[in-house]
Amino acid sequence: MSGKKLTGEVYYPDKEILDRAYAKCESIYKSAEEDPLAFWENEANNLHWFKKWDKVLDDSKKPFYKWFVNGKTNIAYNCLDVHIQTPRRNKLALIWEGEDGEFRSYSYFKLHRETCRFANVLKSLGVKKGDRVTLYMGRIPELMIGMLACARIGAIHSVVYGGFSVESLHERLEDSKSKVLIVADGAKQRGKIVELKKIADEALQRAATVESVLVVKRTGHQINMESGRDMWYHELVNLPIANSSECLEIVDAEEPLYLLYTSGTTGKPKAIVHTHGGYMVGVYSTLKYVFDIHEEDRYWCAADPGWVTGHSYIVYGPLLNGATSFMYEGAPTYPYPHRWWQMIEKYGINILYTAPTAIRGLMRYGDAWPNRYNLSSLRLLGSVGEPINPEAWRWYYRVIGKEKTPIMDTWWQTETGMFMITPLPCTPLKPGSGTKPFPGLKMDIVDEKGMPAEDNEEGYLVIKSPWPAMLRTIWNDPERYIQQYWSRFPRMYLTGDSARRDEDGYYWVIGRVDDVIKVSGYRLGTAEIESALVSHPAVAEAAAIGLPHSVKGHAIHCYVLLKTGYEKSDKLIEELRQHVGHEVGPIAKPEGIEIVDSLPKTRSGKIMRRVLKAKALGQDPGNISTLED
Ligand code: WT7
Repeated sequence: MSGKKLTGEVYYPDKEILDRAYAKCESIYKSAEEDPLAFWENEANNLHWFKKWDKVLDDSKKPFYKWFVNGKTNIAYNCLDVHIQTPRRNKLALIWEGEDGEFRSYSYFKLHRETCRFANVLKSLGVKKGDRVTLYMGRIPELMIGMLACARIGAIHSVVYGGFSVESLHERLEDSKSKVLIVADGAKQRGKIVELKKIADEALQRAATVESVLVVKRTGHQINMESGRDMWYHELVNLPIANSSECLEIVDAEEPLYLLYTSGTTGKPKAIVHTHGGYMVGVYSTLKYVFDIHEEDRYWCAADPGWVTGHSYIVYGPLLNGATSFMYEGAPTYPYPHRWWQMIEKYGINILYTAPTAIRGLMRYGDAWPNRYNLSSLRLLGSVGEPINPEAWRWYYRVIGKEKTPIMDTWWQTETGMFMITPLPCTPLKPGSGTKPFPGLKMDIVDEKGMPAEDNEEGYLVIKSPWPAMLRTIWNDPERYIQQYWSRFPRMYLTGDSARRDEDGYYWVIGRVDDVIKVSGYRLGTAEIESALVSHPAVAEAAAIGLPHSVKGHAIHCYVLLKTGYEKSDKLIEELRQHVGHEVGPIAKPEGIEIVDSLPKTRSGKIMRRVLKAKALGQDPGNISTLED
């Protein structure tokens, strides 16, 4: 560390953490800043390429950047085949516990074999390089294996989070034109079954492109199997075709690896496109340096594979690093609030990466639950998804980490693919700040005109140089890619967040400045919730806003204008809540719905959510000169 004393509440890492860390703060920032492309090239050289790149970065068609130009690789090969050629072949790649206590483990050798078998099943269904495959499952190993199997044959996976419902799944199947849907019969959550296959059946009635449905058995409860369309995975995987050894497609670095839908400012969710090459280099190196993964570590990212956190840091990042990952199927507090702490002790977890909402949720139950367990295996903790309030940070640090485990508060997005603002284990920490951009990244906070903001002045968080795991485009909509991310300020990527930077250069992310609401760390668009509401026969117009919530961070509140002939009642309000749950998913169910006679609009007819929000919070709505009424 430099000699300068940092301001505010600061936590310095212990010597043990510093000595062990791969990243040395004295040198890594400086060398990456001096030559960022050399830094990424060095990282890429740690991975396997069938043919090396001609050029690290091609920026001739900005903002359509290309990384590792003409390099040939395959991310799944790097996740599995590379390791099985070494003594790591017998190391555990994945340890899994079901909510019901079922246990499974996969060595690298076994995970490779299962992935190849899955890949052959997909090939037998006619899936080819570039085809889209949608996966809709709970947190089970088959989700990871299915993703890797797609990557292996060059198919593009699109994972739809198991907490989404009919319309969300339908939209994503249709937009991606998926050929195959892989779905579990159900998922186990809080002792109940989530009827995934049933939801999928309903979504498939609305979507036409899916030719085959591959059903993975998890719950074993009675489901409908449509003949000619639906097939059991466990039956196909036992056929001789599954054992073919030819299931690897060598792909170009820029070949799409996956689509992941996320909510934006307006309209329908859009599919973010990530690639094999640059994405692989980005997630491999960020995980290595930030969570400091060593050979003997057991790492647990408690996110869902259905979100980008799971893609980058449950599936790809840990496997690229040859790590042992732990995955748990169920709810954190099921059947009791000690479940997580019990598993940390039982499996000897060294690194835990979760979200502020989960921390706040567990904190509510008090210290006695975690205190009953030996958590001394923990060495590093992580947080992601929304700003962490200092109170939750301190609890996590003190009660879970026993004041010896640094907390890596990682800021990033579906679009960035990898950590962007994050501490390294050597970084002095301030609760609530993600500290600084990862080595080699140029980020800034700018004012309305795009000029750098002063210290401590709130402004737009932007990224000023390309990074390897960056999104390449929006699927089928390159115009929107330019429009949404690269148009507000010239040559800057707009994150959609506001932030400030303090006098020590530490970033403090404040939150979204667009129409995105973060509910329990999940990203939802006001447009999605509103369009679900107006799809109900009683609703003429709707507006959704996010209001502060002590556990969820933000909760959804809606204002609804009824069609004539419909009467306001508690029953109708409950029906509308259920309707949103059925169409979008349980996570999107509004906390409150208010029936109103009019909505504040601009003269051009745009709903002014800002005014609704100010009113709900009892604040001054600010400039309302554009208000129609
Ligand atoms: C948005 C991106 C990145 C994986 C999960 C979310 C918010 C994310 C932090 C953090 C403050 C954060 C931002 C960002 N966010 N991490 N550590 N501190 N805010 O991915 O669903 O694409 O959401 O999540 O608002 O823009 P996502």
